[in-house]
Amino acid sequence: MPVMNLEAEASAPVITIDGPVGSGKGTVARLLAQRLGWHYLDSGLLYRAAGLAALRRGLPLSDGAAIAALLQTLPIRIEARGLEEPRVYLGEEELGDALRMESVGQAASQVAALPEVRAALVDAQRAFRRPPGLIADGRDMGTVIFPDAGLKVFLTASAEARAIRRHKQLKEKGISVTLSRLLHEIRERDERDQSRPVAPLKAADDAWFLDSTAWSAEEVAEAIHAEARRRGLV
Ligand code: DC
Repeated sequence: MPVMNLEAEASAPVITIDGPVGSGKGTVARLLAQRLGWHYLDSGLLYRAAGLAALRRGLPLSDGAAIAALLQTLPIRIEARGLEEPRVYLGEEELGDALRMESVGQAASQVAALPEVRAALVDAQRAFRRPPGLIADGRDMGTVIFPDAGLKVFLTASAEARAIRRHKQLKEKGISVTLSRLLHEIRERDERDQSRPVAPLKAADDAWFLDSTAWSAEEVAEAIHAEARRRGLV
């Protein structure tokens, strides 16, 4: 019965992992989702798709109404594919690797500051909450999208460590960018994500803090898993 399904979805457990770019939250969230057999939401992909859509249409990255209207006609959809990279669609079109570009990350960070764009993406994010559970990675997962999550992790690392990780990730993807430029871009993006008035990157009041500077992704995933067990979530 639909009502019972809705209840099951609303009560499916959620672990949120919020933090700045390069904190390792994507890798850790994926590892945890694999270990637990839970669903995984990479919410940054939705903002990246919105940024890319606006860039392509030549819309000003400050025009929230126009971008939200565009997303009404061309909805963004993420198709999870188990352990593989999810597919992201804008309308019928699959967006692919362009989403990972640093320029698209910057555009995402700009459109993510617009309340109309954030509002347009709420339902798509909450729809990921399904049994047996969800690992949600982003900036406002614990503060705005899933405020009743059973465990809200706030993952940080030094800006230098984050720049080195991003550099390695991009290099593996064949994208070349200097470390100093990345460090500069990371600081710029942190500043914008933390200072915006709507849903800024900040820890929830009841967040569980982890500094991953000296830790591997496996160690971080293990620590979160242990905390989830301690809380009876898994
Ligand atoms: O996690 P990411 O680098 O793919 O995210 C790209 C941008 O999207 C990031 O700079 C801020 C924004 N974002 C957001 O505002 N809220 C989220 N939940 C996820 C990402």
